[in-house]
Amino acid sequence: MSKKFLFPYEFLEVNWRLWSFIAILTAGFGALITFPVAEISGYIDPFYSPTVLIVPLPGLFRLTCYAYRKDYHRHIFHHPLGCVNVERGEVHSQPYTGEVNGLFQLENLHRYFLYAGILILPFFYFDFLHSLTFAGGLTFRIGSLVLLANAVALTSWTFSCHAFRHLVGGNIDCYSCVTAGAARKSLFDAQSWWNSHHEALAWISLLTIFFADLYLRAVSAGLPVDLRLF
Ligand code: FES
Repeated sequence: MSKKFLFPYEFLEVNWRLWSFIAILTAGFGALITFPVAEISGYIDPFYSPTVLIVPLPGLFRLTCYAYRKDYHRHIFHHPLGCVNVERGEVHSQPYTGEVNGLFQLENLHRYFLYAGILILPFFYFDFLHSLTFAGGLTFRIGSLVLLANAVALTSWTFSCHAFRHLVGGNIDCYSCVTAGAARKSLFDAQSWWNSHHEALAWISLLTIFFADLYLRAVSAGLPVDLRLF
């Protein structure tokens, strides 16, 4: 069967989430490299918190996240396809070799990157608290709200992780056979509900981290966006 030509807008439509990931990442990292802003008016940029750790390990945590994997495997590598769409001329041309080849083996380390993702979360809350008290007294500004929203989004994304689901109860075959089995089962059920929203949280948390960065750049540029709430 001949391949159906996809108009650019069709390509964007079927891959909207992938392209939004790429666009946000490109814009964010472009800004990060071009105009670094570490701290302004008591706000610490999420990319610099803490400076050295933020990019490599949590970056790998995000890169190996199942939500992102699904997108880049399906839409960039076409391997595997979610389901073959003959209308688009797709065929299962090769067996799925997934996480066992080359650089893709890195994806198997996701469960370990999770620990880095968890360890770094308190820093985002510290930055929020720092923004409240940096002037000596207690002030609550829009920027503090932005930092808090970012911290909460990152926390929600991290703890809805599939690897975390395995840790809290997915690794147990018989709940009644283990200590605190009923509590573990309740925790597992609650996390399973949370986990069902993981893809949306992956997207939202990516958006909030770059929005926080952009907001700080606006403050640093002197734009009148940072109103004091109390
Ligand atoms: Fe997405 Fe673990 S699967 S963060």
